[in-house]
Amino acid sequence: MAPTNSPRHDTIPSQPSFDGVDLDALAARLGTPLYAYSATAIRRRIGELQAALHGLDTTICYAVKANSNRAVLELMAAGGLGADIVSAGELQRALAAGIPAERIVFSGVGKTDSEIDMALEAGIDRFNVESLDELHAIERVAQARQAIACAAVRINPDVDALTHAKISTGRAENKFGVSIAEARRWFAERRQLAHVRLDGLHVHIGSQIMDVEPFRLALHRIAAFWRELVKAGHPIVSIDVGGGLGVRYRTGHDQPVAAADYAQAIREALADFDGRLLLEPGRWLVAEAGVLLTRVLRIKEGTERRFLVLDAAMNDLQRPSLYDAWHDILPVAPGLRPTTTYDVVGPVCETGDTFARERALPECAPGDLLAIQGAGAYGASMSSTYNSRPLAAEVMLDAGRYAVIRRRQTLEEMVAGEKSARDWQAVRPQEQA
Ligand code: LLP
Repeated sequence: MAPTNSPRHDTIPSQPSFDGVDLDALAARLGTPLYAYSATAIRRRIGELQAALHGLDTTICYAVKANSNRAVLELMAAGGLGADIVSAGELQRALAAGIPAERIVFSGVGKTDSEIDMALEAGIDRFNVESLDELHAIERVAQARQAIACAAVRINPDVDALTHAKISTGRAENKFGVSIAEARRWFAERRQLAHVRLDGLHVHIGSQIMDVEPFRLALHRIAAFWRELVKAGHPIVSIDVGGGLGVRYRTGHDQPVAAADYAQAIREALADFDGRLLLEPGRWLVAEAGVLLTRVLRIKEGTERRFLVLDAAMNDLQRPSLYDAWHDILPVAPGLRPTTTYDVVGPVCETGDTFARERALPECAPGDLLAIQGAGAYGASMSSTYNSRPLAAEVMLDAGRYAVIRRRQTLEEMVAGEKSARDWQAVRPQEQA
């Protein structure tokens, strides 16, 4: 046989264990699909970021949306972090996990009056305000409870974060924040607000940012505006520089910005700022601390492709189908095996339910266990029950031990709350207003 036709036997990297826990035994015990997070890795990231920011007056507000499991939030609380929330649900989760209200900031373009009220009641640190209408809503709700709300203007600096369009937030065309020109008017009129103390700036230009330059540009625009405001007599007590630090999803390809370089960019742009700096990292703290364990259900030989059909699907991990995101996939069992290429797919009835196309992997057999990497952020938190697939279980690993932190949803739990349409009622027109 010609050498080109003989199968290649590569030692493909494998992942038999994670944070000291044998993944094969874990999956045998808890079933798949299963999210597994390393507490050690999360603590390491927290420590690394804190070290990079050493000497600065900072509060790191973990972006809860990245992974909102209670046990993950408890690790953040234990590390002294605050939270960046975007809903009443995230507020409740953060408080329940022991994150103090005075370290919570509230972002997002669609805060409802009741969410604003709940946040005021809890006594959160501040609102990151995204529109004039929202500013007025906060004034109104704060007035009703005779409270003072602290607020930062979210600036849209019109900077290209050089990331995927769906997760880019700092361009003028995006729905987030307001222009510096508009923010200038807010400050000029800030004394008309009796119940909002407008004394902060906020910027967040996007997510999975792999280049320090967009950060630098945005930080310099914010810094210049801060100086202008101070000269105009508007004290600024905090600048929130957002999140967005990218991570390595593809070994040998992705080159994330080092925490130290990111911190250096903040130091340089805001060297003379004497207030408090807030940061809102999400992904960077948790993405690489998580894997999605999944078993091969079967191999399907298509006419043009070989399909590796997994028991995990786009409902469990949406990133590949939503953003064409790459996630490394490693076999759990070590060993020398012939290499081949597969289209790695889930059981959901959509062509988009594809984790990888023409991916080089060792020859697999039904029942083999795989670990999808980089699944700690925007994995479980974005999962759904699409195709009536119950939510996967989640487990925390910590130096050889594990704890289930979300049990697998049962079929009964999945349909709880649904009812037959029997209890018909009428509404009168005036009630609809
Ligand atoms: N602050 C604000 C106001 C945000 O909107 C976000 C993320 C963050 C902080 C945290 O960004 P990070 O440090 O995690 O990049 N589902 C997408 C990511 C969406 C990010 C939304 N906002 C994904 O899976 O890539």
